[in-house]
Amino acid sequence: MRILRTITEVRAAVRDARRTDASVGLVPTMGAFHDGHLSLMRAARAASDLVVVSLFVNPTQFGANEDLSTYPRDEARDAALAEAEGVDILFAPAASEIYPDGFATNIHVAGLTDVLDGASRGAHHFDGVATVVTKLFGIVRPDAAYFGQKDAQQVLVVRRVVRDLDLDVRIVACPIVREADGLAMSSRNVYLDADARAQATALNRALDEATAVFDGGARDAGSILSTARRVLDEADIDPEYLELRDAETLRPLARVDRDALLAVAAHIGAARLIDNHILSGG
Ligand code: PAJ
Repeated sequence: MRILRTITEVRAAVRDARRTDASVGLVPTMGAFHDGHLSLMRAARAASDLVVVSLFVNPTQFGANEDLSTYPRDEARDAALAEAEGVDILFAPAASEIYPDGFATNIHVAGLTDVLDGASRGAHHFDGVATVVTKLFGIVRPDAAYFGQKDAQQVLVVRRVVRDLDLDVRIVACPIVREADGLAMSSRNVYLDADARAQATALNRALDEATAVFDGGARDAGSILSTARRVLDEADIDPEYLELRDAETLRPLARVDRDALLAVAAHIGAARLIDNHILSGG
């Protein structure tokens, strides 16, 4: 595996691979790898000749009061894990390589970014994501790019950018990888002390119980959401949001008559965590 720092080097490496008609898979990440990240690398490895993983803690998607300065960083560990997955190139640029002086472009996806994490974290969050992901697509020009369904809204935003800007890349969404007790893996789980770690299991439990109510035939949002809310209440969690929305448009749903995204965000201990389930078919 090669660790590359500059756009010029990545372009040269991809150009060389393309000479032999190699297909290119890209996995954008911010590092602090766990099995969720590794599952994306495995999916990319299985489907591509050249696998590029980007490791860049993107400052523009963090708010002023968020955890940019404390975000877990351990490039040596991440490099060893990526290498063990058969990754070919780890692109780990400095911030100045991605945002040189004078950088002035912002990609804003209207509508989809006004709700859920866009409402909680502010519009800058998905602007930062959309802008950096578009740059990565321009740098690597992958055939396919791999994202986790854990960040369901991020997948929708990236798909929208690809469609609206006619980017020639296939977006692959991979399932949420969970700990044995159901907690969705996240780089931010390291912020949890033992009590908060135990409390955090209520997020997926709430989604599970709500999904069971849906599977039992309930279709009105009220009864599905109140089931989830009861589980959160019992765990003393006051969510930032707990919502049921159209899984494609993110419009609110009063009745689940199509694929729905049941999504939750909460501050637990020192971490802000998100999780979601898809309720299929309605
Ligand atoms: P990061 O949080 O490092 O996540 C990188 C990728 O891993 C994302 O596509 C995310 O959805 C996926 N992922 C995280 N936890 C997962 C889990 N438990 N199961 C499956 N996939 C999981 O998301 C970002 O970075 C950034 O916003 C980025 C897209 C890199 C742009 O800066």
